[in-house]
Amino acid sequence: MEAIPQSNSIGAELRGLDLTASLSDAQFEQLNQAFLDYQVIFFRDQQLSAQQYNDFACRFGRLKDYLFADGLDGFPYITEIVKTETETESFGSFWHSDSAYTELPPKITMLHAKQIPPRGGDTLFADMYAVYDDLSAGLKSTLASLKAINSASVVPRDEDIYQEVKSKNSGQSEQFAIHPVVRLHDETGKKALYVNSIHTLRFDGMSREESLPLLEYLYQQVTRPEYSYRLQWQPHTLAMWDNRCTQHYALNDYHGYRRVMHRIIVEGERPL
Ligand code: SIN
Repeated sequence: MEAIPQSNSIGAELRGLDLTASLSDAQFEQLNQAFLDYQVIFFRDQQLSAQQYNDFACRFGRLKDYLFADGLDGFPYITEIVKTETETESFGSFWHSDSAYTELPPKITMLHAKQIPPRGGDTLFADMYAVYDDLSAGLKSTLASLKAINSASVVPRDEDIYQEVKSKNSGQSEQFAIHPVVRLHDETGKKALYVNSIHTLRFDGMSREESLPLLEYLYQQVTRPEYSYRLQWQPHTLAMWDNRCTQHYALNDYHGYRRVMHRIIVEGERPL
């Protein structure tokens, strides 16, 4: 197995593995180490059946339900993410870490590319270890004691729109979870920033108005190009990323074309 780094920060293509065959323990260890080292890894030309894809994902832990979509027939943990030729909205087109509003957010998200547009539809990734590492010592010590409330309802950045959405949703139960703003990766022991612009509502114990200026500063850091890697999909690319230390953004720049991905999420530990 060979890892080809894709940027100075994150991302590697792994070559030399056929994921339709079951991996030996040694191969799995090597792959998992590359995953921890590069945070986002991908494999080209993996023509996996749903069963093979499911089995591969199970090697990493317990598969997790996605709250907002049903799975495929017979494969409840494989969710089909589709944008059709006539749709303009797309799934995940904002910087985020998946399902941060759950008590046990997924450590891993996998996507298997079934159909991709002739161009566009790339996914961007940001290295949240690097974002954290480059903050000043003063800001790191301010963030160290903070927790944030992460909500399942999409949080608009604009305060007026937020108030409107909130009043429309009032009375509905809303899924949310409180997690540390800086989390310690349970396998690497490294620290990563863990707030995101679409799920993080506010710091615990502070109003949204008080929280926003600092949150906005942190979100700006996430978008800096030096922390990012851009994955260009091909049919049958299988990618997996570490939600504990990355964020991602699905580019919605391919109107008129169909994009179909099969997605699996693997449950993680409670963020500490
Ligand atoms: C996601 O946000 O999980 C999906 C990303 C993508 O479709 O590229």
